[in-house]
Amino acid sequence: MKLTDCYNFHDFRKLAKQRLPSPIFHYIDGAADDEVTYRRNTLAYDDVDLIPNVLAGVEDIDLSTTIFGKKIELPLYCAPTALQRLFHNDGERAVAKAAQNYGTMFGISSLATVSVEEIAAISNSPKMFQFYFHKDRSLNDSMVQRAKAAKFDVLALTVDTITGGNRERDLRTGFTSPPKFTPSSLLSFMTKPGWTIDYLSNPQFELPHLQDYVSEGTNIAISIGDYFSTMLDQSVNWNDAEKLCSKWGGQFALKGIMSVEDAKKAVDIGCTGIMVSNHGGRQLDGARAPFDQLAEIVDAVGDKIDVICEGGIQRGTHVLKALSIGAKACSGGRLYLYALAGAGQLGVERALGLYRAELERDMKLMGCNSISQLSRDNLKFRL
Ligand code: LAC
Repeated sequence: MKLTDCYNFHDFRKLAKQRLPSPIFHYIDGAADDEVTYRRNTLAYDDVDLIPNVLAGVEDIDLSTTIFGKKIELPLYCAPTALQRLFHNDGERAVAKAAQNYGTMFGISSLATVSVEEIAAISNSPKMFQFYFHKDRSLNDSMVQRAKAAKFDVLALTVDTITGGNRERDLRTGFTSPPKFTPSSLLSFMTKPGWTIDYLSNPQFELPHLQDYVSEGTNIAISIGDYFSTMLDQSVNWNDAEKLCSKWGGQFALKGIMSVEDAKKAVDIGCTGIMVSNHGGRQLDGARAPFDQLAEIVDAVGDKIDVICEGGIQRGTHVLKALSIGAKACSGGRLYLYALAGAGQLGVERALGLYRAELERDMKLMGCNSISQLSRDNLKFRL
C-alpha cells in the first residue's frame, strides 16, 4: 500500500497499520471497553439522509467558515492529539504545515512532542492549545503562559479525561509514553524497521510542555490511562474552569461537552466555544455520539458560542450533516493521524485534500454554494 493508493479514511488506516509497530497503531486505533461509542460516533451519521436541491448554479463553492473569531478555508480542522512524534518523526510540525497549506486550524496537545514556541515559529494558521488540568499548579501556569506568549489563538480545556478510559488494546500491547522496548513488545518493533530506525535515529522523544515539571511520560514510562488517573486533578470543577478562562483572557473552549446542561454552563463561565465530543470513544464507552447530541446543544447555545462537532468524521458528507444541524465546524483526530503515521506532512496533505475535494463535490451535489446555505431542511432523520 502506498500513499497514492489512499482515497479514504480506511485506506490511510491500512497505510498506518503497515508502518507502525502494533502498540503504536493500536494506541491510535483503539478506544474504551467494547469500543461501542467509537463505532457509534461514525454510524450516527447514517441515521440521517441528505436531501439535495438542484439547478442551483454551483460552479463556485465557498467552504470557509469563522470559528473563534478566525476565518478558516475549510469547515474541518485537525483536533489536538497527543504524542505525534511517536506516529511520524515530524509529528506536530507536519500537521501544522499541512493545516497551514489548507488554510485550516489545528491544535496541539499538552502532551505534544513539539513545543508551542516551535509551532508558532513555523505556522501562521489559527492554532489551539489543548490544556490538561494537572495537579501541579505551577505546570498549569507555565502552559498557560507559554501558549499565550506563543500567541496561540484558542485555549481548549479537555473535560472528559478526569480518569483514564479503559483502553484494553493498550493494556494488551503494553503501550506507554515513552514506548518501552520489552521482550514481549520487541518483535512488534523489529517487524516494523522503517518506524523503529526513524524513531531511534532522530532526536529523542520529549514532551516539552511537561518535562520540567513531571517525569511521567518522558523519563518514567506510563500508560495514557494511568497518566490521566494520576497526574490530572480530579477535583477540577466549574469554578476552576471559569478561573482558567479568565486567566487565559482570550478565545476559550471546553473540549468534551456532551450534555445541554453543561453546554449552558460553558456559556455562563465565559467560553467562546465547545467541542461536542466523547474523546473519540476513548473514555466513557456507551456515551452517546456527538452527532446525536448536536441538535439539542445547538438549539440551546448555538447562537451564543461556537459549537464544534468532533468525532467519527470519515467523509465530507459527515461534515455537511453536522453543519446542516448547526455546528460551526467539525474536527477529528484519527482522520489525519493515520495519514500522518503513514506518510508525514504529505500524508496529512493528501487526507485534507481528499476531504476538501469531497466537501466541494458534495456541496455541488447538494445545490449549495456556501456553508451558510446548509440547514436542517437538507436533512431527514430515519425513524
Ligand atoms: C488520548 C489522549 C492523550 O486519548 O488524548 O490518548
